[in-house]
Amino acid sequence: MKKLELGKSGLLASEISLGCMRMDQLTKQEANRVIENALELGIDFFDHADIYGGGKSEEIFAEAINMNSSIREKMVIQTKCGIRQGFFDFSKDHILASVEGSLKRLNTDYIDVLLLHRPDTLVEPEEVAEAFNELKRSGKVRHFGVSNHNPMQIELLKKYVDQELIANQLQLSMMFTPMIDAGLNVNMLHEPAIVRDGSIMDYSRLNDMTIQAWSPFQYGFFEGVFVDNDKFPELNQKLAEFAVTKGATKSAVAIAWILRHPARMQPVVGTMNTERLRDIAKASEITLTREEWYELYRTAGNKLP
Ligand SMILES: NC(=O)c1ccc[n+]([C@@H]2O[C@H](COP(=O)([O-])OP(=O)(O)OC[C@H]3O[C@@H](n4cnc5c(N)ncnc54)[C@H](OP(=O)(O)O)[C@@H]3O)[C@@H](O)[C@H]2O)c1
Repeated sequence: MKKLELGKSGLLASEISLGCMRMDQLTKQEANRVIENALELGIDFFDHADIYGGGKSEEIFAEAINMNSSIREKMVIQTKCGIRQGFFDFSKDHILASVEGSLKRLNTDYIDVLLLHRPDTLVEPEEVAEAFNELKRSGKVRHFGVSNHNPMQIELLKKYVDQELIANQLQLSMMFTPMIDAGLNVNMLHEPAIVRDGSIMDYSRLNDMTIQAWSPFQYGFFEGVFVDNDKFPELNQKLAEFAVTKGATKSAVAIAWILRHPARMQPVVGTMNTERLRDIAKASEITLTREEWYELYRTAGNKLP
């Protein structure tokens, strides 16, 4: 498993990350197998959020591996805060309280990366800055970032926050590509030309922020998985052909497609199936040519100008 550096932070982690959003649905034994399997595959980056399973995902993660300092050092743990029941909350009090909760559930002294989960229009960036300073000073959080943010929202935070924002977690899959489409259709009148995110991909590259691609197998907003889905026969046919030539599975090819982009993105895969994760990890060894990348992009239903 190849490593990547998150932003310019010096923090190295597996280029494929395991998302733990669904871990609350596992028994401790199952969760243990999932985590141990990931570590064996070289996947050492685990993505959490305070709200996953209402906190249970973080809890079961720590309990399942009997969290202690020796296992903790083998992992890079990221969690998120800022989503509450029916509203978003980037207040200092909430950020600090959320981190305390995560530290307790994860049974650890520190979080490697803390992300602000989804923009809060009532954000007072001075408060975010105070919270981040306190968390950094106390050693409770080592690095900071955002999720689902556009460039201007990031700029607003950066005006006040002292720490580097090293990552932005955004939805991206072969079947969900607005951040790529707009850049390929500049100044055109049709739908794919619409810039929905303030050119976040170019902004991230310019500002050394790692894009973490969440839900890399889903189409739409949690409408389902496109791999082996009868709704997408052409794409699945093409993925199957590539799977044969690359000696991997369709799922691995779908992840290799994200990894091929020179923006150096980090897919966050959510499978809780050890076999599937083993197959997906092979994506790190697959190389796609420029022509192959575009062929897959076109087969996913996109037209080039
Ligand atoms: N920042 C945000 O706003 C945000 C939002 C959503 C998610 N996330 C993060 O992203 C992670 C991944 O999200 P996700 O779980 O929706 O992403 P995903 O990796 O696209 O989907 C994984 C789900 O698809 C199922 N699946 C079925 N067939 C599959 C196949 N052939 N290949 C791969 N998976 C298949 C998996 O089931 P099995 O378990 O049975 O394999 C699993 O339930 C989450 O865990 C979370 O950490 C972040």
